[in-house]
Amino acid sequence: MERYETDILVIGSGLAGCAAALSAARQGVQVMVLTKDVQVEESNTWYAQGGIIYRGKFDAPEILAGDIIAAGAGLCSPEAVGLLSREGPRLVQQLLIEDLGVPFDLADDDSGALDLTAEAAHSVARIAHRKDTTGRSIEASLVEALRQDPKVTILTGRTAIDLLTLSHHSREPKDVYPPPTCAGAHVFNQATHRVETFMAKQTVLAAGGLGRIFLHTSNPPIARGDGIAMAYRAGARCINMQYVQFHPTTLYDGDERFLISESMRGEGARLIDTHGREFMQDYHPEGSLAPRDIVARGIHQMMHKTGAPCAYLDIRHKPADWIRTRFPRIHAKCLEVGIDITERPIPVVPAAHYSCGGVAVDAWGRSSLHRLWAVGEVSCTGVHGANRLASTSLLECLLWGTRAGEAASNAVKQDRHYLPDINLWKYETEPVDPALVAQDWLTIRHTMWNYVGLVRSTKRLDRAHQILRELHLEIDRFYAKAELSDSIIGLRNGIQTALVVLLAAREARESRGCHYRVD
Ligand code: FAD
Ligand code: SIN
Repeated sequence: MERYETDILVIGSGLAGCAAALSAARQGVQVMVLTKDVQVEESNTWYAQGGIIYRGKFDAPEILAGDIIAAGAGLCSPEAVGLLSREGPRLVQQLLIEDLGVPFDLADDDSGALDLTAEAAHSVARIAHRKDTTGRSIEASLVEALRQDPKVTILTGRTAIDLLTLSHHSREPKDVYPPPTCAGAHVFNQATHRVETFMAKQTVLAAGGLGRIFLHTSNPPIARGDGIAMAYRAGARCINMQYVQFHPTTLYDGDERFLISESMRGEGARLIDTHGREFMQDYHPEGSLAPRDIVARGIHQMMHKTGAPCAYLDIRHKPADWIRTRFPRIHAKCLEVGIDITERPIPVVPAAHYSCGGVAVDAWGRSSLHRLWAVGEVSCTGVHGANRLASTSLLECLLWGTRAGEAASNAVKQDRHYLPDINLWKYETEPVDPALVAQDWLTIRHTMWNYVGLVRSTKRLDRAHQILRELHLEIDRFYAKAELSDSIIGLRNGIQTALVVLLAAREARESRGCHYRVD
């Protein structure tokens, strides 16, 4: 078994992981970044469309904080929101614009100012974007900066299996460290098929979200809840897991869902039903620009009432050239399925999009486990409460990633570290039948979609509990002997995270934000 040692181990290379790695490296410590995909950029971040919050014309931190708290249905942490509202836009200016030169779109008026767009539940236009592919511009700039930094090693095709906790894995007497302490991770190398041990003085978990545990999602395949499952098994405190946000508008075409950015509604697109009627006014005075949870449920209810298979998003009031320039990716994707959005409304349905809950952390990303930090979508900073305001996620990844990188490197310098021997990976394995894995995933994704989805009830949650608990036992049984692969590791994490969401949803009897119970 290969063993590596580093000051800081970062698990995940989306915006949160990259920001943490960059800020730690700039403090002079050694950083290793692991990601399970062979492409370092592959992440939810890469697909982000609408943008990142900056500063609007008549904006102020208090106005932004007010919008975040209103969207969060009263469950946001005022301290976390205040921090994000004050520090976030400043960091966009310093790090993304001045330091890394992310090419955000500029206004048409030759002033050199950014072109700021609006999104639902924002009281001013304050969102910086690069057309409808903001995520890839930010991610590419950060990855480039990491590649140039001699303190950073990036390793791709590495799937973290479990966090190492000294109370579980160490061969040393249990009193060497006060448990629970994190000391790195066991990692599956997809090229060699071997398990590697990464010992780290500090570990930053940045493994992203969980959209893929639902049948329909805007998320790419990497988002299967690995981070939550690893943290939960290690004993880190996870909170607010019932608040899974469903994005109101994804392209209705087959089983895969492609996001149709909320910034399209920010630019004036209207949600209509099959008869061309603007139905969202029935549910909220802000209509198509109401908070996300309300719009997603409004679409669901309209479909339920009328039997329609989808709603429609109509942007045809804008000139065709403007649409093609402002939303090139969405325009091209819709054309692929035969819809020219300059001529026809887009068929849309809600899909699982974002986990508002996660590993509970403080203002520096510190988790309840000693030496474990969590940043980005896998974490819960308290910013989003019961429902996230559009375009706050990228900002939170940037700010908490940067802060955690700094705090973890300070801890490397101050703390007395000792990396003990770890129990060897022991396994007698047998091959796994891929049909079992595929069917188990279908069960998880259908169960979560139908019973733990946009609309929940005691009966649905109880039924889901029966199904998932049974499946969890079964998967654990065959995992214990399974020949390791990224796919079997993912299945074990998928069922674990699905159960964590389900258990939180069963406990939470009050409808609030994204968690809506008919009973
Ligand atoms: P990610 O970017 O998802 O990165 C997770 C990383 O962890 C990846 O590198 C992945 O490979 C790695 N990983 C996962 N499991 C393992 C494992 N077991 N071992 C090793 N590595 C692992 N938010 C906004 O603010 N504005 C937007 O415009 C916006 N648009 C969006 C559009 C889409 C289509 C989607 C899906 C999301 C959007 N969001 C947006 C949300 C936002 O993009 C994400 O919440 C954010 O990018 C999450 O960043 P992250 O770094 O936490 O995780
Ligand atoms: C979008 O572009 O609609 C996504 C924005 C977000 O998730 O914050």
